[in-house]
Amino acid sequence: MSVFASTATSSCTDRAPVLRSRPRAETAPTAGPALPAVVGADLQVPTLSGTTTYANLDHAASTPALVAVKEAVDRALETYASVHRGAGYASRLTSAWYEEARAQVAQFVGARGDDTVVFTRTTTDSWALLSSALPATTTIFVFASEHHSTLLPWGDDRTVRLPVPHSVEEARSVLGEALANAGSVDPDGDRLVVVTAASNVTGEVWPIEDFARIAHDHGARIAVDAAQLSGHRRIDLAGWDVDYVAFSGHKTYAPFGAGVLAGRSDWLDAGAPYLRGGGATRSVGEHGTSWATGPARHEGGSPNVIGAIALAAACATIAGHRGAIEEHEARLLARLRDGLRSIDGVERLSFFGENHDRVGVVAFTVRGLEPSLVSQVLSVEHGIGVRDGRFCAHLLVDDLLAKRGDATPGEGVATAVRASIGLGTTIEGVDRLIGAVRELVEAGPAARWTRGDTGWVVAGNDPRDREVTRPW
Ligand code: ALA
Repeated sequence: MSVFASTATSSCTDRAPVLRSRPRAETAPTAGPALPAVVGADLQVPTLSGTTTYANLDHAASTPALVAVKEAVDRALETYASVHRGAGYASRLTSAWYEEARAQVAQFVGARGDDTVVFTRTTTDSWALLSSALPATTTIFVFASEHHSTLLPWGDDRTVRLPVPHSVEEARSVLGEALANAGSVDPDGDRLVVVTAASNVTGEVWPIEDFARIAHDHGARIAVDAAQLSGHRRIDLAGWDVDYVAFSGHKTYAPFGAGVLAGRSDWLDAGAPYLRGGGATRSVGEHGTSWATGPARHEGGSPNVIGAIALAAACATIAGHRGAIEEHEARLLARLRDGLRSIDGVERLSFFGENHDRVGVVAFTVRGLEPSLVSQVLSVEHGIGVRDGRFCAHLLVDDLLAKRGDATPGEGVATAVRASIGLGTTIEGVDRLIGAVRELVEAGPAARWTRGDTGWVVAGNDPRDREVTRPW
């Protein structure tokens, strides 16, 4: 594993974490059936009819922190000091934990021994880094259905955008044909396929191993956006035989500003350093700079060690409760989908069909009601958190709604409501959402709503506008 490979190579850093440390008994992976607890599970929120427990159905946007993550962060702050830049005990401890966090993440993604694991800020940042490190000859193949962070960073002039597929077979054949055509046009060029592991709009899981095989058969590499998978299902870089994977801490119960890019070292070691500065160099002289290889090359500046420790704690906790998490989410997802299916006028978005495997994300429309009104009513009248819009996947949502022939009333563009589940979601929350949507369809909103310049406004006082003490 090259996660420590760069530790002795940098000019202005002391990169030799020598402390021995061991996992905490409480956070060491266990096979226990209990679900990991999240911070804020009992959050009380104001609604028109009083205060209620927040029903969190917005995990696809961001997940709450795990209690284990908060505890790890609190503990790491007690001895917080510089990473790879100090001789003091606290600095050496913090440096050791930073590299151990990297090793924990490498294990979480099923990295090969010679993969590089770089701490970034988010999935978006990971793709920006990979894009900047690609060989100049690279052509990128990406489906139009991707989240904008995965669709856009590569640059229009070298990207082949594939149409939104409506079956797995279509996706496979479209990709295979595009790669075959590229091979005949530029046989010596590098090629990279970028594809999601699970859609942030429909939750549908993509057959990554198939795409890896197709990519490699045509001499291409493949990078997988695991942002919607990391908190819910296993990532397996080596087992899937993919070249790169990216995901975000804020969707993996560790919202402390760290993300990950993991994968093949060669392009990353040859590519331009992502953040030029201290920590990314081997030596700097009058006549030039020698840059580090390994993760340090792309982690210039003092790293976000608290974010990395938070992410490692989340990875350890999730891996230790894998079965319980998947069982919980499958149960809630089935209940959510069955409940929405039973309401007349509710339509769910999908590109691979009703029976396709999916994580806990459901985008839907309600006949005759603007999605933005639905989400506001769910919040103000019922204390439920969902998201509406096009979810940073405009081409996909446009395509799925156009295919269905639906028009969203009132709004310039067609949009949808999205409910997404995770460890902060309860059965009561799912049932509350289904009940609220049913009530909305059958009786309309309880309050009087008007459409203002900034969106839907409830008559009288919006209970969410009450004064709240700042956290600082
Ligand atoms: N990518 C996040 C979402 O799908 C923000 O909502």
